[in-house]
Amino acid sequence: MTVTSTATASADSSPDPERWIQAGIGWGARAAEWAYLFEPYARPANEMLFGRLDVSPATRLVDIACGSGFAAQLAARRGATVSGLDASAALIDIARARTPDGDLRVGDMFALPFADASFDVATSFNGIWSGCEDALVEARRVLTPEGRLGLTYWGSLDRMGLLPYFRAVIEHSPASHQSATMEQGGTSAVMAGLLESSGFALTEQGTVDVTNEWPDLDTAVRALAAAGPSVPAIEAVGYDAFCDVLRDAMDPLRDTSGSTGLRVTSEFGWVTARPA
Ligand SMILES: C[S@@+](CC[C@H](N)C(=O)[O-])C[C@H]1O[C@@H](n2cnc3c(N)ncnc32)[C@H](O)[C@@H]1O
Repeated sequence: MTVTSTATASADSSPDPERWIQAGIGWGARAAEWAYLFEPYARPANEMLFGRLDVSPATRLVDIACGSGFAAQLAARRGATVSGLDASAALIDIARARTPDGDLRVGDMFALPFADASFDVATSFNGIWSGCEDALVEARRVLTPEGRLGLTYWGSLDRMGLLPYFRAVIEHSPASHQSATMEQGGTSAVMAGLLESSGFALTEQGTVDVTNEWPDLDTAVRALAAAGPSVPAIEAVGYDAFCDVLRDAMDPLRDTSGSTGLRVTSEFGWVTARPA
């Protein structure tokens, strides 16, 4: 399955050339919360994919739709020469602080501002979805002929701990955003088709669990309200009202150990590929 959101999409394939700018404004509206309270949840997926892709000091890596650069920072710690691109200037500011030596740019993944064949590895963690073939064509262009691609995406619905969050988003977003917020599509078969149609040959695929951990419900709500898909719902009902909705939705997920915390595990799918 694919989880995305139109105006704030992680994978916006609209023909409107300005649409990526709107996506960046949405994702950057609460940049610090996204960067520090949310993005680190993907670390198991980041580390696993970098391992599969042999990211090392010899690697020139670009992370596409890199958000606040948490993954890029991990790649830099492996010694890679790191570039990244995201639509949000506020998130890129944090990415630059995390990896001062990196080449981190604000821009559109459908028109990467990088030269042909300039990277050994391209990754995108929940940044490229079904319908974004053109972003993959760009990824292929900037990879060397021997380059490696790695993508993650939301996995099975039955293994998605954050489903109550996405249900709340759908219920409170304007109708124009609902159908795009949650749709079937990010299955391994769909991703394999997406790769093939954009000039890649699938190498490996699998799943990996990621876990959001928050010390209390209010922190969880701050984090979730900062995610791009929340933006249309916040615009529709207001920030405080949407936070109340999230509090109700997430309350049943409190840790059963007796602490105030929440540990919410979801599945990512992942694929690796090479230029065909
Ligand atoms: C789900 S977040 C993923 C961020 C990061 N990769 C991570 O692992 O947390 C999606 C990201 O895609 C970015 N984005 C959306 N549309 C974009 C576009 N057309 N070009 C570049 N980035 C885009 C958003 O700004 C956001 O940071």
